[in-house]
Amino acid sequence: MRVLGIETSCDETAVGIVENGTHVLANVIASQQEFHEKYGGVVPEVAARKHLETLPFVTREAMEKASLQYGDIDGIAVTYAPGFEAALLIGLQFAKGLALASNIPWIGVHHMEGHIYANFLDHPEYAGGPAFPFISLLVSGGHTMLVYAKSEGEYVTLGNTLDDAAGEAFDKVGRYLGLPFPGGPAIDAQAAEGDPHRIPFPWGVRDRQYDFSYSGLKTAVVNFVEKNGREGHVNGTKFSFPDLLASFQSAAVDVMVAKTLGAAKKHGVSRIAIGGGVASNSRLRREIKEKGEKEGLEILIPPAHFCTDNGAMIAAAGTWRLKAGQKSPWGLSPTSRLPLPSESR
Ligand code: KG4
Ligand code: ZN
Repeated sequence: MRVLGIETSCDETAVGIVENGTHVLANVIASQQEFHEKYGGVVPEVAARKHLETLPFVTREAMEKASLQYGDIDGIAVTYAPGFEAALLIGLQFAKGLALASNIPWIGVHHMEGHIYANFLDHPEYAGGPAFPFISLLVSGGHTMLVYAKSEGEYVTLGNTLDDAAGEAFDKVGRYLGLPFPGGPAIDAQAAEGDPHRIPFPWGVRDRQYDFSYSGLKTAVVNFVEKNGREGHVNGTKFSFPDLLASFQSAAVDVMVAKTLGAAKKHGVSRIAIGGGVASNSRLRREIKEKGEKEGLEILIPPAHFCTDNGAMIAAAGTWRLKAGQKSPWGLSPTSRLPLPSESR
């Protein structure tokens, strides 16, 4: 089964084509970063306008890369929630138009289910479906979620962020420190030179088992810099700018690792799958793998290009739904906030 996946929930105009839920035939992404950079964040109306301009070309490129005609496509999957409504609407209406014109079945997909399925892309051993059950840590610019994935379409959300999302914290700290947008990759790159334990930043909520809080950490960084500068001495200890970044990054990441491993233990699950833009963070990838494998867990980590928003992950998540004969109503509209589905059939 070949499925074309369309993703326009944020600032990536993305189309992927996936065979049997895992084999990626094409994955074309047009980033709008340059249009949002000067605002220091994504402007939904600008994103929508750019999706409208770019989506037909991105789709054509994906079809050409996969050397396919529309007659070769068995299904269309499209993100309909959550995300910016104006941006989602463009992908959704485009998908409906394509489905109608080419007589192809289509399905609306939850963006975070896409991030979960990114773990199984290019893994032919999962062509029959993901290896359930597992715990999934989903961390992006808009989300920080810990999910217990029980079976196809059956997800229990264990925890969420109480304020800022993990990626948002990286982006806000990056912007405050004058780093290029988005802050995540910029902090990750410079933190490589720093000592992650030089400055003890707070972990956020420790008591609420699986919830996260990042606004306190962001404020702690701001307060620290106001008082001590970007580099210098604190309590007689020298710190560099990379030390500051590495210390922020370790506080942001280590809490995720601890809570994810704790959730796996609590639920007796032997597998962890991570996803979302922040899952491309080098410390997160290293720490969760090292610590998880030490506890005998299997750790799935998608390559960085499948962690950030893409169309292939949406195609993969849509594949099992289309295979099961699921359909979305023509009246399906975009939704900015929506919990992960908890029941499949
Ligand atoms: O999943 P994504 O592409 O878009 C959504 O938000 O849905 O995630 C983007 C987020 C941004 O906040 C960006 O700063 C963050 O992912 N990010 C990273 C890294 N690469 C991207 N955060 C930390 N370290 C990274 N290497
Ligand atoms: Zn995302």
